[in-house]
Amino acid sequence: MARYRIAWLPGDGIGVEVLAAARLVLDKLGLDAEYLPGDIGWEFWCREGDAFPARTIELLERVDAALFGAITSKPARSAAAELSPGLQGKGLTYRSPIVRMRQLFDLYICLRPCKAYPGNRLNFKEGIDLVVFRENTEDLYAGVEFAPVPKELADTLVKFAKPFAPFTKIPPDQYALSCKINTRAGCERIARAAFEFARKHRRKKVTVVHKANVVRATDGLFLETAKAVAKDFPEIDVDDANIDAMTMWLLKNPFNYDVLVAPNLYGDIISDLCAQMVGGLGFGCSGNIGSKLAVFEPTHGSAPKYAGQNKVNPIATILAAKMMLDWLGETTKATTLENAVARVIADGQVRTYDMGGTNTTLEMAAAIAEKL
Ligand SMILES: NC(=O)c1ccc[n+]([C@@H]2O[C@H](COP(=O)([O-])OP(=O)(O)OC[C@H]3O[C@@H](n4cnc5c(N)ncnc54)[C@H](O)[C@@H]3O)[C@@H](O)[C@H]2O)c1
Repeated sequence: MARYRIAWLPGDGIGVEVLAAARLVLDKLGLDAEYLPGDIGWEFWCREGDAFPARTIELLERVDAALFGAITSKPARSAAAELSPGLQGKGLTYRSPIVRMRQLFDLYICLRPCKAYPGNRLNFKEGIDLVVFRENTEDLYAGVEFAPVPKELADTLVKFAKPFAPFTKIPPDQYALSCKINTRAGCERIARAAFEFARKHRRKKVTVVHKANVVRATDGLFLETAKAVAKDFPEIDVDDANIDAMTMWLLKNPFNYDVLVAPNLYGDIISDLCAQMVGGLGFGCSGNIGSKLAVFEPTHGSAPKYAGQNKVNPIATILAAKMMLDWLGETTKATTLENAVARVIADGQVRTYDMGGTNTTLEMAAAIAEKL
């Protein structure tokens, strides 16, 4: 029996190609693993009315980790229109399978390291080395949304919140409501994860990202809780910034930042920004980590316009595989893999389209495998 059982979830569009590339590299590394394919994505929504079928959930219950490509998500109305005719009108509602997976398996940490590998011409600046901790199960992604807004709900809200009064004059189908929900426990554990990472990796500072001056209840809780956690880590500096200012400061002074911790939506936003600063989505890797399971993926989506062209950059996914190796405790293999990626980038001989080259997805993977 293989040492590790890894769920293999290619998903949609370029997810299939980047996972094939990662497999080429993992096989060359000789990871002692059994890869168990799982169904996830748009095809299963259209055909079965469920983008994250029960059989895939069961698969995730019995593996050590998972590698995931990407899925296509569409707004509720277009999703309903693409259901197969036999499933139309049955009240099925589309929800992003990756968001569901994060909540179902309580993968509360979204860890996104953004490192500028030396010599990457796409680096915003050489030497950038940021790590984003994004809370992964709560906030505006809690899935508590109303469109139209039920009258009973509006009547109750206005009783408790005066600013809601103007909205009660609007017909219920002319506005929508998405709830931002943050718990003290949720804020606490993501903040603690960020500080523990900083301690383990000898990082100097954790910056708490929020908008507590305006979004006072939820972001106020996030900031207050993170500051309280910081007291347990006196050797690590702590500061905080509003999300809007943070995007500006990150571009202006990226070297002033180290580890960033943020609620779900702001974390999503800054991790794309940080990924772009180290070469773009072709380099952004991500780990969805809980106490029992971890699912690793590139930060990017299914990029439908490039699907099936064997053209996109697999480095993000290969770095996600590196994160998976670290999480499994295969740190020597993880370092070997990262060094191989760094050497291919520094050599600059093999480059996919986003790096200004013409090499294919599989050629990039082969070049990395060659350096192992
Ligand atoms: N975790 C996920 O699976 C995930 C994340 C984001 C978006 N999505 C979904 O993906 C679909 C497409 O979304 P989108 O176009 O906004 O975002 P995307 O990340 O799929 O692609 C945006 C653009 O980034 C570039 N890009 C992305 N990956 C690249 C790679 N590996 N190499 C080189 N360039 C790359 C391409 O120019 C691409 O058009 C949507 O349905 C969206 O909901 C899924």
